[in-house]
Amino acid sequence: MVDLNSSPHPTISYRPIRPSDLEVLEKIHSDLFPIRYEPEFFHNVVNGHDIVSWGAVDRSGPNGQSDELIGFATARIVLAKESEIEDLLRSDSFLSDQTLVYILTLGVVESYRNLGIATSLIREVIKYASSIPTCRAVYLHVISYNNPAIHFYKKMFFQCVRRLYGFYFISGQHYDAYLFIYYVNGGRSRCSPFLLFCRELVTLAVTYMKSGFKSVAARLQKSKEKKAPRWTKGKETCCLITSQNKRSITAEVAGCQVV
Ligand SMILES: CC(C)(COP(=O)(O)OP(=O)(O)OC[C@H]1O[C@@H](n2cnc3c(N)ncnc32)[C@H](O)[C@@H]1OP(=O)(O)O)[C@@H](O)C(=O)NCCC(=O)NCCS
Repeated sequence: MVDLNSSPHPTISYRPIRPSDLEVLEKIHSDLFPIRYEPEFFHNVVNGHDIVSWGAVDRSGPNGQSDELIGFATARIVLAKESEIEDLLRSDSFLSDQTLVYILTLGVVESYRNLGIATSLIREVIKYASSIPTCRAVYLHVISYNNPAIHFYKKMFFQCVRRLYGFYFISGQHYDAYLFIYYVNGGRSRCSPFLLFCRELVTLAVTYMKSGFKSVAARLQKSKEKKAPRWTKGKETCCLITSQNKRSITAEVAGCQVV
């Protein structure tokens, strides 16, 4: 790696990630993220299977020969109707065709930070999403304590539209996530931010009411069972949290999200 003291303005180039980047890509991911990604994820990135990627390399070395990755963005195209943000998009008659670009991972090696590299990578992602006529937005999740990333996305004009409680489960602990979105090709919902906020509040209130109701019902049920003779329940109680948003991240991760 180049000593940035001797080269304060490195020459950074951008290119797709390729198979020869595999080892470095794995190393940077394991250095930057608190979760482990499966080998299949890296295989898909370097071979461009279902995943689009952008790499940053430092060409300031002698003869501009160095080709080692120092930053990356990886993303996947998803169908809007199968995503968790369908309700945040402008609804029109072609909803079934609408797509989104979901950012899986974004990272810059520490010694190259604050040089605008992530900015350039995200601009590439936005340019790519805008070039797809069916694409309506770029979106991603950020773990709630990652302040540099939160500042970064706000600076890039991403909107923080949701807080997802207990979205991540890492090493036995739950962490909230923020959902950030950047609309492209007129994908914005006609709902005003205030209406979206109200909708979030209602969803939260309903969840709490349901959980309160369930715990009261469970207590009533218990006392009933104590008093009455035993009987078999016809229906299984459903889970309180059924949200498809909820991700469980243990030591290995297959479906990846930026954290
Ligand atoms: C977030 C990250 C990708 C930013 O990369 P970067 O190349 O340093 O970002 P850029 O230089 O393009 O942008 C800098 C902007 O990001 C924000 N930022 C970057 N580092 C920051 C920090 N430590 N604290 C607060 N804001 C920070 C600022 O808004 C800054 O804007 P400024 O230049 O006007 O001050 C980088 O810190 C990183 O790789 N972090 C570890 C992995 C990670 O958290 N990835 C994102 C997961 S969602």
